[in-house]
Amino acid sequence: MAEERATPLRLGSTAPNFKAETTQGPIDFHEFIGDNWVVLFSHPEDYTPVCTTELGAFAKLEPEFKKRGVKLIGLSANTIDSHDGWIKDINEVTGSNLTFPIIGDKDRTVAYKYDMIDHQDTTNVDSKGIAFTIRSVFVIDPKKTIRLIMSYPASTGRNSAEVLRVIDSLQTGDKHRITTPINWVPGDDVIVHPSVKNEEAKELFPDFRIVKPYLRFTPLPREKTSAAV
Ligand code: BEZ
Repeated sequence: MAEERATPLRLGSTAPNFKAETTQGPIDFHEFIGDNWVVLFSHPEDYTPVCTTELGAFAKLEPEFKKRGVKLIGLSANTIDSHDGWIKDINEVTGSNLTFPIIGDKDRTVAYKYDMIDHQDTTNVDSKGIAFTIRSVFVIDPKKTIRLIMSYPASTGRNSAEVLRVIDSLQTGDKHRITTPINWVPGDDVIVHPSVKNEEAKELFPDFRIVKPYLRFTPLPREKTSAAV
């Protein structure tokens, strides 16, 4: 087993590069990212129930990720042959058409690099007693910066719509000087970033309203069109 424990990855870290075999052929991860956003997510094991539902859900939502310039890539410590066989089951059971690559990280090289291994749950091991990968999610932006890290236990399936929602929040926050409140979804009002003084907020967000000096809501400004009249 190739164990590589580097500096812990944090929000803002550069996503470590690696080369790997995937169901769509070999990749260099940084080349795979290119100018896109990427969701790199691991599951514990092929041919398991919760993972089957998760991969099907991500596959069904892939067109929405694509619209936002986001590529999906899965990972587990299984072989490519195993992934290929299981994808047929996923498509059959969930009615999906899974086309994104899944990394075959049999020796857990990438899993250790990205800390996708469970330290707590001693039952979360394969037949040889080696830790399964957990349900990790890394959202990585085109600068290859890690923007979100989520870790879920094996017993709990993730929420694919939540991953998409966070990407909407991150991309909106990159474009406008705003943050997003609890349970925000696109179309809801956003929060004026604390670094924006009221004078500037009047220019940027004419309809902003002050609830408290530190809590100012605003609709997002309409996109300016460049169409000449
Ligand atoms: C599952 O996907 O159902 C699963 C995988 C590994 C451990 C427990 C559950």
